[in-house]
Amino acid sequence: MIRSVVRGNGAALPRRIMKNADFEGMVETSDEWIVQRTGIRQRHVAADDETTASLGEAAARAALDSAGLTPADIDLIVLATSTPNNTFPATAVEIQNRLGMHHGFAFDMQAVCSGFVYAVATADLYIRGGLAKRVLVIGSETFSRILDWSDRSTCVLFGDGAGAVVLEAAKGAGNIADRGVLAASLRSDGVHKEKLFVDGGPSTTGTVGHLKMEGREVFKHAVGMITDVIEATFAEAGITAEDLDWFVPHQANKRIIDASAKKLGIAEEKVVVTVDLHGNTSAASVPLALSVAVADGRIKKGDLVLLEAMGGGFTWGAVLLRW
Ligand SMILES: CC(C)(COP(=O)(O)OP(=O)(O)OC[C@H]1O[C@@H](n2cnc3c(N)ncnc32)[C@H](O)[C@@H]1OP(=O)(O)O)[C@@H](O)C(=O)NCCC(=O)NCCS
Repeated sequence: MIRSVVRGNGAALPRRIMKNADFEGMVETSDEWIVQRTGIRQRHVAADDETTASLGEAAARAALDSAGLTPADIDLIVLATSTPNNTFPATAVEIQNRLGMHHGFAFDMQAVCSGFVYAVATADLYIRGGLAKRVLVIGSETFSRILDWSDRSTCVLFGDGAGAVVLEAAKGAGNIADRGVLAASLRSDGVHKEKLFVDGGPSTTGTVGHLKMEGREVFKHAVGMITDVIEATFAEAGITAEDLDWFVPHQANKRIIDASAKKLGIAEEKVVVTVDLHGNTSAASVPLALSVAVADGRIKKGDLVLLEAMGGGFTWGAVLLRW
């Protein structure tokens, strides 16, 4: 059978790093509170000349370099983002143009923090369905643009950045030893909309709006939703937590990551944590975490890797792949 194998990956971060202490003069908060409640120590914040498209392009170029490929080798770009450069056209098409690509096709996916997991699962279907052979899957965000910088309960949590992988069609035996995407499980439920949303949009206010979140409510649902969807993925693949080499969760809050891993029985040393470095970068968080763990030599070819995310909607999902 056809498998979607990761051929390369990359990342890009804005130049400016904002430490927790930098918020202390802006809102009533402290480095100690932020670290204790979230695990976040710093985040990158985009300058005016850094956008979802420019960061996405840089991550895409890094992923192509690591794959030893050029844009000419790609036939589809799927960009996961909730902070597009424009309402339309899709920022994926802008990235396609920036890469000098005038063949193939490109589109955006909007599943907020679950966007990259949704995008990998989607790209896998395009590859297995024969519509694409090599896909650039990108998560790129500039959440700094939609934050209310006077709201301490949200502005300290998010950051900007981008990550990307190149998925390539390859022949597999159809079993768990194959490299590539092995199983996926996606969920959404709009009943939770008011707990995490942006209070603007083209069809309602005609403005971009700002992020609103009931953090405690999100927290309450997160661990149960994450563990349910991962257990469904384990069941589909016929594996247990012990078979995993790496767990790469969405990086929103260290306490959510720890509680999910504990409930699933995933050993602490198998969990990739980058929330301290990047904050919550929404659709970019999983590919950014992947880039750190690949660069430092933890994730290697042949490793069994579990990706997971949960976010606004709510949306949530998991992808199991062999690197
Ligand atoms: C946001 C979050 C860190 C808050 O932590 P918490 O332990 O739930 O804290 P609470 O919301 O109960 O707030 C506790 C107190 O801290 C205050 N507080 C909130 N933000 C603060 C900040 N940056 N600095 C200092 N105090 C803060 C609150 O106002 C509250 O004060 P009160 O008790 O006087 O009302 C936590 O709820 C969380 O991470 N939720 C999930 C968010 C998430 O992952 N979202 C993205 C999903 S993709």
